[in-house]
Amino acid sequence: MGSQVEGWRTGDRVTNLHVLDWADGCPPAFMGLGLGALHEDGVLAEYVVLPAGRVMRAPARLDHVEAATLPVAALTAWNALFGDHPVTADSTVVIIGSGGVALFALQLARAAGARVYAVVRRAAAGDSLVRLGAAGYVNSLTTPDWGQEVFARSGGADKVVDSVGVSLLPQALAALAPGGEIATLGLFDVVGAPVDGYALLGKQARIRGVAVGSAAMHRDLVRFVETHGIRPVIDRRFGFRDAPAAYKTQGAGGLFGKVVIEVD
Ligand SMILES: NC(=O)c1ccc[n+]([C@@H]2O[C@H](COP(=O)([O-])OP(=O)(O)OC[C@H]3O[C@@H](n4cnc5c(N)ncnc54)[C@H](OP(=O)(O)O)[C@@H]3O)[C@@H](O)[C@H]2O)c1
Repeated sequence: MGSQVEGWRTGDRVTNLHVLDWADGCPPAFMGLGLGALHEDGVLAEYVVLPAGRVMRAPARLDHVEAATLPVAALTAWNALFGDHPVTADSTVVIIGSGGVALFALQLARAAGARVYAVVRRAAAGDSLVRLGAAGYVNSLTTPDWGQEVFARSGGADKVVDSVGVSLLPQALAALAPGGEIATLGLFDVVGAPVDGYALLGKQARIRGVAVGSAAMHRDLVRFVETHGIRPVIDRRFGFRDAPAAYKTQGAGGLFGKVVIEVD
């Protein structure tokens, strides 16, 4: 630790803050794409040097591997749920798939007392999500008009966490209750289908783009994870030397939980 650093002690357990210079409120004009993207080195390394303001306390009860899952997937789910239009115990939330962000959204929303429905492409994933607390799921392959189906079953969602991309907006809008919000964050598809303006206006719906989250959100997330005893779902662990296999596994899909690489 540098001699001028305040607020930290040697041995503190920390994780990184993913993006640059976003303390609170609106994101800055330039926050980069995060560690490991175009402008900054990543964290797949035995040693990483970061400014003191670029780290955050890790939740007390999580081990290093669990804590490592927070800076992107969990923080993005947190921002989607609570960054605006915050989810409460009275809310109904829709998640898409069973990926890292969706799983955190399920765990965080359930801890807040909300009801959660999932939209999946695999029944096995839906069943696993129900075991984790989802009220039910719709298979988007067998029910392409899943928005109507979710609306009929739930009475309308207050929040749709769109972790696929804007192509889902028409169905997400159909699933939404009047006054609800679609928090769209997925990068699988950033060129979407046209949105039905009547539905958007009629429901007075909100569509919000979500990009990771601020340091203040991260701090709130850590406290919430500690208060509610949330444990990240981890699908596979790889050793440092097997890092390429970890990337292949992540790319192959069919996972249920995070893929992590342990530096031993
Ligand atoms: N905006 C941000 O700040 C931010 C932050 C984190 C991640 N992201 C982006 O958000 C997306 C999700 O990230 P992740 O880490 O959760 O991904 P992930 O762990 O790879 O999981 C992806 C999930 O999405 C499902 N899926 C993909 N396409 C689908 C479709 N057309 N319909 C229904 N389900 C679909 C997959 O289902 P199957 O299991 O059936 O394949 C899988 O469950 C990625 O595009 C990622 O780059 C953005």
